[in-house]
Amino acid sequence: MFAPDDRSFPVSPVARELSMSRTSVSALKRKIETLEKEGYLFDCWIAAYRPGGTAKGGHVYHQLRSRVPFKNGRKTRHIGAAELPRFCQLVNNGRLLKKLRRQVERLEQRPRTSYDLLTSSASDEWYTPPEYVALAREVMGGIDLDPASNTYAQQWIRARQYFTYAEDGLSLRWRGRVWLNPPYGKHIRRWTEKAVAEYRSGLVTEAVLLVRPAIASRWYQALSGAFARCEPHRRIRFINTHGKPLTSPVHGNTFFYLGEQIEQFHRVFSAIGTISVPFQARGRLP
Ligand SMILES: C[S@@+](CC[C@H](N)C(=O)[O-])C[C@H]1O[C@@H](n2cnc3c(N)ncnc32)[C@H](O)[C@@H]1O
Repeated sequence: MFAPDDRSFPVSPVARELSMSRTSVSALKRKIETLEKEGYLFDCWIAAYRPGGTAKGGHVYHQLRSRVPFKNGRKTRHIGAAELPRFCQLVNNGRLLKKLRRQVERLEQRPRTSYDLLTSSASDEWYTPPEYVALAREVMGGIDLDPASNTYAQQWIRARQYFTYAEDGLSLRWRGRVWLNPPYGKHIRRWTEKAVAEYRSGLVTEAVLLVRPAIASRWYQALSGAFARCEPHRRIRFINTHGKPLTSPVHGNTFFYLGEQIEQFHRVFSAIGTISVPFQARGRLP
C-alpha cells in the first residue's frame, strides 16, 4: 500500500531528473559568474586587416568590430598588439556566456513543469524590475546589501554589496539596509528566517523582502504576523536573463517591510498596492 511517508518508496523519475538538472545548473551558474567577473563583450568579433588590402601577408592589424555601436557611436575600434589577448578573451567570454545562459534557461524551463508539480517553485533567475527596487530604496534611503543576487541584476539594483550563488548569501553575515528577492525554491524559509534573525540581531537595520505569497506556510505567517506588507494591485513582470519582462505573470507577490519606518513604507508603497500592518507592529506606528 502507498504510504506518503514511507522512506523506501522509490524516487520518482521526475525527482531524479530534477536533481540532475539542478546539479548541472549550479555548475553552469558558477561558470557564468566566473565569466561575468572576468569581463565579456557581447556581439563583437575581432577582424584582422591590412590597410589598403586584405589580412593576408604583410603587416596585420586588428580591429574590434561590434554589431551595435560603442559609447562613442562607432562600431569599430583599433586594437594594439598588446591589447589583443585581452580582447580575444573578452569576445570569447561573451560568446560562452551567451551559450551558458541559454543552457541554464533551457534547464530551468525543463523542470518548470515537473518541478512545479513537486514544489510549486520556478526558476530563480527572474529579476525585480527597477521601478520596484526604486521604491525599496526610497523607503530605506539606500540599499547596502542584496544577499541573493548576480552581476546582471546589480546593473539596476546597485546595492553597495551583493552576494551571488557562488558566494552563498545564506552562509554570510548581512548588514545594513537589505533588499531581498530570494530564490523561490524550497529554501525560501531559510532566506526569510535569516532576514528576520539578522534584523532582530540589529545587524540588519531595515529590509524590504519580495516574496511569492504562501499564506498557509509557516515562514509566510511568521512574516505576515510581525511585519507590514504591501500586496501590489498588479502582478509583477519580472525580468529574465536577457532583460525581457515576463509577458503573462501568473501569480501575485508580497513586499514585506522589516524596520521602524512603517509610515514611510506606507507612504511609498501605497502607490502600488494595499498596505497591511499586523497588530504586533502597530505599536511602532507614531
Ligand atoms: C529571484 S533572483 C533575485 C535577483 C535580484 N536580487 C533581484 O531582486 O532581481 C534570486 C537570485 O539569487 C541567486 N541565488 C541563488 N542562490 C543563492 C545563494 N545561495 N546565495 C546568493 N545568491 C543566490 C540566484 O542566482 C538569483 O540570481
